[in-house]
Amino acid sequence: KNAQLDALCSRARILPVITITDERHILPLADALAAGGLTTLEITLRSSHGLAAIRLLRKHRPELCVGAGTVLDGRMLARVEEAGAQFMVSPGSTEELLLAARDSVLPYLPGVSNASDIMRAHALGYRRFKLFPAQVCGGVVALKALGGPFPDVRFCPTGGVNDDNVANYMAQPNVMCVGGSWMIEPAALASGDWPAITWAAARALEAIG
Ligand code: 3PG
Repeated sequence: KNAQLDALCSRARILPVITITDERHILPLADALAAGGLTTLEITLRSSHGLAAIRLLRKHRPELCVGAGTVLDGRMLARVEEAGAQFMVSPGSTEELLLAARDSVLPYLPGVSNASDIMRAHALGYRRFKLFPAQVCGGVVALKALGGPFPDVRFCPTGGVNDDNVANYMAQPNVMCVGGSWMIEPAALASGDWPAITWAAARALEAIG
C-alpha cells in the first residue's frame, strides 16, 4: 500500500480537505477545484453529507480521485468502503483503525502528531502518515526532526497549511503531499463563487511551482 499511497500523493501534490455543508455544493465545488488542477479530493465525514458526496462524485465524476477523511472507527471505515471511496484518512490513529485498515483494500493515511504515534503505527507496518495538525505539531521544524529517527517514513502535513507556507512544506524530503482547506474560502463557498475557488486552487498549485 505504500506504493499506492505514493502514487496517489505524488499525483495529487495538494489534497483539498472538503466538508460539505450543503449538498448542492458537491458537484460545482469538485468541478471548481478540478478546473484549478486539484483532482484528488478528501471528503470529510464531519458533516452528514460526507458519504452521499463520495457516492455522488464516484458516480458522476469518475475522472476524479475521491477519498474519505475524518474516518474515526471501524464502522465508519466499512461505510466508506461501501460508498466507493478510493482512499481513507484519519486525524489520528487508534489500534482498532490501524488493524481494520490493514484488512481493507483501500490505501489509508493514519494521522500522527508525534514520535510515539508513529512508533505504534510503524510496528503495525505503516510508513505513510498524515501529520496533523501540522502547524501546531511544529510544522517544518517537526518534519525535519522526525526525519532523523524515521528515515523510511513520509508525511502529508495537514492543518494550518496555506499559500505562504505550502512551498516550504513541499520542499521537505519526507513530505509526499500536503492537505488542507485553505483554497476553499468560506465566503466563496457561501456565495457559490466557483471561479474564485478555481483561482484559489490554481494559486495553491502555483505556490509550489
Ligand atoms: C483537516 O482535518 O484535515 C483540517 O480541517 C484541514 O486543516 P485546515 O483546515 O487547517 O487546512
